[in-house]
Amino acid sequence: MTEHGGQYDPRFLPRLGATALALVLGATAVHAEDIAEYMDFFEPLPYLPPIPADNSMDKAKIELGQMLFFEPRISASGVISCATCHNPALGWTDRIDRAVGHGG
Ligand code: HEC
Repeated sequence: MTEHGGQYDPRFLPRLGATALALVLGATAVHAEDIAEYMDFFEPLPYLPPIPADNSMDKAKIELGQMLFFEPRISASGVISCATCHNPALGWTDRIDRAVGHGG
């Protein structure tokens, strides 16, 4: 970088802008290609999970699954349940950008 008396040379700014634009456009192009590749690989999830022929669904199993989903005692720390990250009130998400990690 070119500096004059602690300030950036204004002639440098257009080059900086062009470089930033090129980086953003380059990254976007790669991203779009990746998405197309992934779309070929993955399928949308079914509306309801498949039920195996040898493991039928019943009311008791559904209740057990619901209890376990909200049960923090099954985590190593005893404070995290599935619902910690998959909060039904938040569309089954936690609405945070990055995982807090096991230590919180
Ligand atoms: C610490 C946070 C956290 C906890 C606790 C957690 N999950 Fe997840 N779960 C995630 C994240 C993040 C993803 C997305 C992973 C990805 O897309 O790579 C995910 C993905 C999933 C998916 C796939 C969803 C999809 O649309 O493909 C299922 C199913 C799921 N979790 C079920 C569970 C169950 C059941 C539990 C409890 C036994 C649980 N999760 C506990 C964070 C968590």
